[in-house]
Amino acid sequence: MSFKVRVAPSGHQFSTEPGETVLEGALRQAVSLPYGCRNGRCGSCLGTLVSGAVDYPSGNTEALEGAPADACLVCQAVPRSDLVIKVREVEAIQDLEVRVLPCRVERIEHLSHDVLRMSLKLPESQRLQFLAGQYLDFILASGHKRAFSIANAPHDDRLIELHIRRVPGGEFTDYVFEQLKEKAILRIEAPLGSFFLREQSDRPIILMGGGTGFAPLKGIVEHAFHIGVERPMHLYWGVRSRRDLYLPDLPERWAAEHPGFRYTPVLSEPDPDWTGRKGWVHDAVCEDYPDMGPFDLYMSGPPPMIIAAREAFERAGLSPAHMYYDSFEYGAAKDAK
Ligand code: FES
Repeated sequence: MSFKVRVAPSGHQFSTEPGETVLEGALRQAVSLPYGCRNGRCGSCLGTLVSGAVDYPSGNTEALEGAPADACLVCQAVPRSDLVIKVREVEAIQDLEVRVLPCRVERIEHLSHDVLRMSLKLPESQRLQFLAGQYLDFILASGHKRAFSIANAPHDDRLIELHIRRVPGGEFTDYVFEQLKEKAILRIEAPLGSFFLREQSDRPIILMGGGTGFAPLKGIVEHAFHIGVERPMHLYWGVRSRRDLYLPDLPERWAAEHPGFRYTPVLSEPDPDWTGRKGWVHDAVCEDYPDMGPFDLYMSGPPPMIIAAREAFERAGLSPAHMYYDSFEYGAAKDAK
């Protein structure tokens, strides 16, 4: 049976499907409740059961030991009736705990001539709470850090996905491409950054990525689909030539499956047989949207692209308040992202 859950004090409501935990239902409907391990151990998700009844079919309730009798372990609780729970919702990135965690390289897949996808697995008892579009830092043995955007959406957090481009002469990416093996243990600090989907807005969305700047946009788009965002979305992906579109089928599939989603790849050094858009990606956006005033714009890429685009988009009427960007500028070392 489905049940309704109301969250106090915000009054936000969502429903749970049969067998679904309160947390799963909340995440599916974009209600951001706090969580950490998702297996009943850490207590990050503890709230208060104001009314209604729950079961704990998993039996994973370690964090309830010593907690008040009306405590509700949101990540394990499966409603037995409609509920009212009291819990502090995650409303902004400040509410997300930045943690240093070990992680294992679960999978390395070469996606193109110079980009690989690395999938990281956290220890069994840990999950990372993050907003789609945020990034993590690898903490190297030297203490230096390397920043990479998280390419998956928070609902799909079994593994953390990164897209890593090999930068000629980049020490860390040389190491990743030449020496790093699956099963290696690395240390990360996450989640970081203020690049994430503003869910309260009702404005149509333009997303623009350069190279592996596609990664955080992938997370944002997948999150938007997951929570049922109905605002029109148009993704532009700018690269040099066709071989740099390292996941070419994915945005095509999004466009085929979601009527409100459009996709335009743009090549700056097009292959001779390329019949699609050519030139700089921000120029293509401006050609298609000469009045950008009504839009929210999310862009991610190297600083020169972001700087040129910011100016062009402002000239096209887009207020800086509606431009969200991830310009790889947060102290990232030369070979990061
Ligand atoms: S998220 Fe850790 S106990 Fe629920």
